[in-house]
Amino acid sequence: MRLIRTASQITAACSNLRAGDRTLGCVPTMGALHDGHASLIRESSSRYDATVVSIFVNPTQFGPREDFRRYPRTLRADLRLATRCGADVVFAPAAAEMYPAGFQTSIEVADLARRWEGERRPGHFRGVATVVTTLFNLVRPTHALFGQKDYQQALIIQQLVRDVRVGMTVRVLPTVREPDGLAMSSRNRYLTPEQRRSAASLYRALCDGRQRLTGGARLTGPVIRQMRRLLHGYPQVRIDYVAAVDAKTLRPLARARGRVALLVAAWVGRTRLIDNLLVDVS
Ligand code: PAF
Repeated sequence: MRLIRTASQITAACSNLRAGDRTLGCVPTMGALHDGHASLIRESSSRYDATVVSIFVNPTQFGPREDFRRYPRTLRADLRLATRCGADVVFAPAAAEMYPAGFQTSIEVADLARRWEGERRPGHFRGVATVVTTLFNLVRPTHALFGQKDYQQALIIQQLVRDVRVGMTVRVLPTVREPDGLAMSSRNRYLTPEQRRSAASLYRALCDGRQRLTGGARLTGPVIRQMRRLLHGYPQVRIDYVAAVDAKTLRPLARARGRVALLVAAWVGRTRLIDNLLVDVS
C-alpha cells in the first residue's frame, strides 16, 4: 500500500492504476476508519483492479459550532486497516492540497440538499459536494463507494455525478451495524458507555417504524409519533428529526407508498447521530 500526500502525485498514480482500461474503485472517507469503511474497501478491492482510499477531514463541511477540531484523526490505525482490506493507495492530503490558495468554487446540489441534514447543517452538503468533485477529478475512479448510513449524502453525490457527467458509477452499500443495531460511525467513539447503550435506540425506533409500515400502516404521522415516543424513553437522547420520506426525492410523505426512507437524527449527549432504513411499501 502506498501513502500519497499531494494532488499531483495522486493524479499521476491513479492514471497508472487505470491504464489499459483497468477499473479503479475509490472510497472517500474522513478517516477514523471502522468496520463500515472496511466493508467498502474490501468490496472495492475484491471487485476492481485497484482501490484508492482518501482520508481527509474536510473543513468546509463542518459548521462553525461543529466538531471539526475534535474529529478523530487516527492515520496510523487507518493505514493499517486500509492495507488489511486491500487498498492499493491511501490519499491523505493536507488542506492546502484540496483547497489551494485562491480556491473559490463551490458545488451545490439544489433540491436534495435542502431538507434534513441540509437544513440542520447549512453549507454541509456544499462542502461535501465540492470536496468529492475535486477528489473525483484528481482520482478519476471508475467506481466510488459510499455507505447507506449517510443516505442523503449518497443521493446527493449520485445526483451530482449524473448532472455534471462525472463518468463513473456511484455505489451505495448497506450500513454496517454493531450487534445491538447501532450504525457504525466515526463519531460513536465520542459516546460514554451509558450514551453508547442509549444510542442503539435510533435503530430500535427505525425498526419499529419499518415493522408498522410492513404491517400495513400507511399514514406516516402515527408511525413517526410512535418512533418519537420510543426515543423519548431514553433520557440521554434528544430528537432532532424523525421523518418518513420518498426514498428518491427525500420529500416527506403523509401516506407511505413505493420506496420509503425512514430517517432519524438525534443528539446523544453532545454527539449528533443519524441513521435510516429503506422500506418497500407495496
Ligand atoms: O462521508 C464522509 O466521510 C464525508 O462526508 C466524505 C464523503 C468523505 C466527504 O468529505
